[in-house]
Amino acid sequence: MTAITGKIGITKRPGELGVHSLSTFKMIVPDLAVADNFYRAFGLDVREEGDTLGLYTFGSDHRWGVIGEGPQKRMSAISFAAFEEDFEPMKRRIEGMGIRLMDAPAGFESNGIWFRDPNDFLVEIKVAEKTSPNAKVDFGAMDGSKPGNTIGSWGRAKKPEVRPLRFAHMLMFVANVPQSIEFYARVLGMRLSDRTGDIIAFMHGIHGSDHHMIAFVTANGRRPGLHHLSWDMGSINGIGLGAMQMADRGFQKGWGLGRHVLGSNYFHYMQDPWGSWSEYSADIDYIGLDHDWEAKDQPPEDGIYVWGPELPKDFLHNYEADQYDTPG
Ligand SMILES: [Fe+2]
Repeated sequence: MTAITGKIGITKRPGELGVHSLSTFKMIVPDLAVADNFYRAFGLDVREEGDTLGLYTFGSDHRWGVIGEGPQKRMSAISFAAFEEDFEPMKRRIEGMGIRLMDAPAGFESNGIWFRDPNDFLVEIKVAEKTSPNAKVDFGAMDGSKPGNTIGSWGRAKKPEVRPLRFAHMLMFVANVPQSIEFYARVLGMRLSDRTGDIIAFMHGIHGSDHHMIAFVTANGRRPGLHHLSWDMGSINGIGLGAMQMADRGFQKGWGLGRHVLGSNYFHYMQDPWGSWSEYSADIDYIGLDHDWEAKDQPPEDGIYVWGPELPKDFLHNYEADQYDTPG
């Protein structure tokens, strides 16, 4: 919380209340061993913690994700973080809106407040460190670009292990995109970055964050759920090495390499064992705490990607909803 951003000494947007980071998510999957194998291959530091797995990035003790076991795969809870001095005012504001606060779910040690969003997702706001970036990340620094007369790449056998730098954002299928925008703006103090009509929308934190830390895509009348989790790689090379590492370990199906329009990030998505996706991402747009971003409404035919391979046919298929819908 002491990092300098934009103007010297200013680390938060004055006079406004809002979460600063998407701190942690909790997901339920039918078989923890399957998750363990996938996320290790993806390059995460997967730690066994009681009857759950903790998802970490190497070199940090911040737990980005908790994976528990249950009959059906689902995103179970999303925890956002606020500055300590903002917590009580936010709590009062939320109570004043008539939103019912709940006890922390079993198994959560929590100093936060819990409630449900319009999609029935369990949401927490707690006091925790700011894990969203405080400035545009130094893109390309991980590429290790070499001067002339030296070798820049590696032999296949000697290529480096892939290690995502941090969890970046998630995209959720939601019941109603405008309703989710309104709720996350009013209750969590986030701002709309860009949208494509009522199909998809991206939201950022007001205290300096990536172009989006959460995004919403219409579930088209089906059950809300996870579309993808995104991890920052710091470079295109990191994305490419990630996709190759996954292929080496048997995870072939993906979409990339490409570049998004909204958010501008380079990407390669890997399909996870449950049909949702994990994104290797780099160079996403950054919105500083002292900048009022002008939200665009991008036409659907021009919203998803600037360049890249054709979209997989099931990229926007809601596999999480399939578990609950009766076939036929
Ligand atoms: Fe993404």
